[in-house]
Amino acid sequence: MLSQLQIFQFRNLHSVTWSPAKQVNLLLGENGAGKTSALEAIHLLGLGRSFRTRQLKNIVEYDQPQCRVVGKIAGRIPVGFQFDLHQGVQIRLNNAPLQKLSELASHLPLQFIPANCHEFFELGPRFRRKLVDWGLFHVEQTFLYHWQSYKKCLQQRNAGIRQQKADQEIRLWDPHLVRHGEQLSQLRKSYLTQLLENFKPIFCRICPELAETEFKLRYLSGWPKDQSFADVLQQTLDRDRALAYTRAGAHAADWSLRMDGADPAEVLSRGQQKLFYLALSLAQVALLMAQRQTETLLLIDDLSSELDDQHQQLVLAVLAEMPVQSFISSTNMLLSKHLPDDELHAVFHVKHGNMERVTTPVAEDRYIVE
Ligand SMILES: Nc1ncnc2c1ncn2[C@@H]1O[C@H](COP(=O)(O)OP(=O)(O)O)[C@@H](O)[C@H]1O
Ligand SMILES: [Mg+2]
Repeated sequence: MLSQLQIFQFRNLHSVTWSPAKQVNLLLGENGAGKTSALEAIHLLGLGRSFRTRQLKNIVEYDQPQCRVVGKIAGRIPVGFQFDLHQGVQIRLNNAPLQKLSELASHLPLQFIPANCHEFFELGPRFRRKLVDWGLFHVEQTFLYHWQSYKKCLQQRNAGIRQQKADQEIRLWDPHLVRHGEQLSQLRKSYLTQLLENFKPIFCRICPELAETEFKLRYLSGWPKDQSFADVLQQTLDRDRALAYTRAGAHAADWSLRMDGADPAEVLSRGQQKLFYLALSLAQVALLMAQRQTETLLLIDDLSSELDDQHQQLVLAVLAEMPVQSFISSTNMLLSKHLPDDELHAVFHVKHGNMERVTTPVAEDRYIVE
């Protein structure tokens, strides 16, 4: 959980001191108010990078030399991110400079759900692998070791291919690739099987009209199903030489969830695709909580886009019951009506780069955006 947030000179958030609630935090406001910027600031604190830009100079408020975001993890571990136009990035965790970004990620598992997450189904296998690997990184301790070892061997094999080394020199890497690749494949398959079990009940709740659907997982390991990885590597070296890289392997894995035998991208509306992706992400959070008692920080940008009122309410109801901290932005001012009125949840009105906690019910018409 994040608390005692302070954001300085970050896009249009000039100086914001912010005490978020333990569970749902609704950020409501008009277009351009600073809602996505607030989520971006938290993303930088949790992962050391932005979801909007690779050019960090863009996040610094116009005409200012630097921006800063600070907060506390679990109420006691200080964390701070600073970007200075001249000095670059500085990240501090627990009063010391950060050594590795993965250290930050393991302290503060974070899921960011973009407004256009329904497009997930049109993205390539790399994004689907990323979703699984996020889960495995946090849930399965051996995953990082196998993934890093696999990547190193693959780089070496590919370098050998490019340098046109002798067959036996290239083949030296194969047993290592096979060992780590098969492990990765096992880990991913078993993670996805568990994810599907967590996904189904959540999807039924937020998309009740599709509650009767049968889901089936399809996993493609990255090499032909009827052959072993070792045989494939053995038989395809000439093809790999022609391509100048190793084609088959765990780096080419993919998966999908079929709905009554069909591809979700082809049968679901955009709103339903968004609910599908949301249910997948919430299932990942639930799985992490169940297996490692680790809390995830959820950032959901523009919940209202593509979703009607009824479905927005259903998502909010599920989130309000989950023991995770979430930050949800929306232009739908009426959404606050559907949040339980207790200290676990909070509504913030974001206006011209300021954040104001809405404590007393405000006349409804003030919250209607035409
Ligand atoms: N570097 C910057 N300095 C100052 N303002 C910025 C900067 N980058 C973007 N903005 C402005 O910040 C405002 C908030 O944007 P955003 O957080 O995306 O709004 P929302 O998500 O509430 O619609 C926009 O008006 C945008 O033009
Ligand atoms: Mg926005």
